[in-house]
Amino acid sequence: MTRMGRLALSSAWTLGCMVVASGVSAAPAAPPNGEATYAKYCASCHEQVGARIPTRSALEQMSPGRILRTLDFGAMMSIAYPIRRDERDAVARYLGHGSDDPPPLASAFCKADRAIMAGPARDSWQGWSPAADNVRYQNAQSAGLMAADVPKLQLKWAYGFAGDVTAFGAPTIINGTIFTGSAGGAVQAIDAKTGCLHWLYQSNGPVRSAMSVTAEGGKTTLVFSDQNGWVHALDAKTGKMLWRKRPEEHEGTRLTGSPAEYQGVVYVPAASWEETRSIDPNYQCCTFRGSITAMRARDGAVVWKTFLVDPPKQTGKTAAGTPTFGPSGAGVWARPTVDAKRGLLYITTGDNYSHPATSMSDAIVALDIKTGKIVWATQVTPKDVYNSSCGAKGANCPEDAGPDYDFGSSAILVKTAAGKDVVAAGQKSGMVYAVDPDQNGKMLWQARVGKGGTNGGVQWGMASDGRNIYASVSDVVRPPGGIGGPGPVGNANLDPNLGGGITALRIEDGSKVWTTPGVPCAPPRAGCSPAQPGAVTVIDGAVFSGSMDGHIRAYSTADGKIVWDFDTRKTYTTVNGAQAKGGSLDGAGPVIAGGMVLVNSGYPRFGGEPGNALLAFGLPGGN
Ligand code: HEC
Repeated sequence: MTRMGRLALSSAWTLGCMVVASGVSAAPAAPPNGEATYAKYCASCHEQVGARIPTRSALEQMSPGRILRTLDFGAMMSIAYPIRRDERDAVARYLGHGSDDPPPLASAFCKADRAIMAGPARDSWQGWSPAADNVRYQNAQSAGLMAADVPKLQLKWAYGFAGDVTAFGAPTIINGTIFTGSAGGAVQAIDAKTGCLHWLYQSNGPVRSAMSVTAEGGKTTLVFSDQNGWVHALDAKTGKMLWRKRPEEHEGTRLTGSPAEYQGVVYVPAASWEETRSIDPNYQCCTFRGSITAMRARDGAVVWKTFLVDPPKQTGKTAAGTPTFGPSGAGVWARPTVDAKRGLLYITTGDNYSHPATSMSDAIVALDIKTGKIVWATQVTPKDVYNSSCGAKGANCPEDAGPDYDFGSSAILVKTAAGKDVVAAGQKSGMVYAVDPDQNGKMLWQARVGKGGTNGGVQWGMASDGRNIYASVSDVVRPPGGIGGPGPVGNANLDPNLGGGITALRIEDGSKVWTTPGVPCAPPRAGCSPAQPGAVTVIDGAVFSGSMDGHIRAYSTADGKIVWDFDTRKTYTTVNGAQAKGGSLDGAGPVIAGGMVLVNSGYPRFGGEPGNALLAFGLPGGN
């Protein structure tokens, strides 16, 4: 049987081919050939016998799906950045062998006594944040956890994402059932109390978005996106697909941000791989346009679509003669925030990838929720034209490159003690901005919570309990000269003492209530960082934040004192029988409901450590 023939037997990767077939390539490209891709991008290392380099024969024992995952989200991420999606598929098929990871063990599945979504309605955390304001606050009743008990939290169970090296799906909990994506693209429904598995659905790409939840006509519909540009809708009860669509044609589309839901419509943010793909000097940079697509949850019909930049035109050529295009970028990386009172949707945007610079990059933008029309926009960093080729001053880097200060996290809708609404957003620059939704986004205050940088500042999101805003920062420090140099990507060594920290700000004026600095790695070790890039979560009296060294900590909201600390970097015996270990904490933050605190561990990017564990903490004797 040919390699292609063998692959066709595997449903997951047949879907992978569909992605390519329906995608519109931004740059004209020859049909991908696995052997040629291997020769160009892999052979220089994998044809030699080195202490740390697995040989080609070792790679040939892996499944195509597993190789693809390594390129997309594993050890080879920084090498794979310039490689197109169809080339990745081709090289994985060329090298790989056998079928994808085996199905879960029969013993992993729930018995009849654990029905799906049968718990109390309060045991829920729906979507990226329990409410549309995106503040990642869980009230006492739903949390089932008092601040005084937080120091007693202990590990209740661990679940392994089989075959993965990353754990980054943002969990959603409905009536005691967890719905989570994974790096391998398997979306799984897991019982929150016991960790048993209800069902598993194979997506078209890695899934990190949280599920949006729509209840209509007695049916609960989950809508989520994957990293290859697909939006999926499932019946929550059965895991059966209701529909699947690509809201955006661009080949480099990368859907990371969770959809928001309002009255039966989901709002899907779109960002892309293009910024990193431009590391390749032959890549025609750049044509992707950040957007929001409003889709009906019932059938995926598009209600409206709004782009954040105008259609690109050719703007010139690089020194190497490669045509350049623009405007581009202003990707939307995070869940939109619904303001039902004003009928607005707030989004935050990333940088422009190429010239010309536009007014809607690095901005907080308000859209009419019914029509998608842009009502106002507050740009905080103008002229931020940047792409990943700038890390090594590559051909596609604009001469006057900007600082790469994307907004990577959602705007949050908060209220002052006097009842005044405020929209706040944390940026990679290390700044938190607060704007006035009643004065077209006029700046109310700004506060610095970190140093900022391409991997610095606020990355995945802040939290608020209505008193303060809690912002943790990455501020990872890479000493120059580490592997890959001081650029934005690459597995450079990290400074084990510098980075991280969490600050509480007053909603009224942004003044600091307290700051707790990052905790140096102990013992100091190469490749370890105290950075706190992950999203923050708050309950009454305690705020939770993870760090790249693998620690999850809870801080007192009163004074920032650390009240609980657990090192997740270990090997686990799992409830589903999959091998699992912990690593860096990054991305989606902890999720709390029904007395359980869920934490993903493992994030091998930007120098982080791999891992594939979903950990559930609870109180002794409880549950
Ligand atoms: C610059 C050298 C280099 C290049 C180029 C390179 N690799 Fe690797 N690769 C490595 C090293 C080193 C490791 C082991 C990483 C580790 O775990 O420490 C590795 C690991 C892997 C693994 C994981 C093996 C496992 O045990 O899980 C896969 C799969 C892989 N590479 C595939 C590829 C493919 C496909 C390409 C080309 C698209 C490629 N690599 C290009 C150096 C390279």
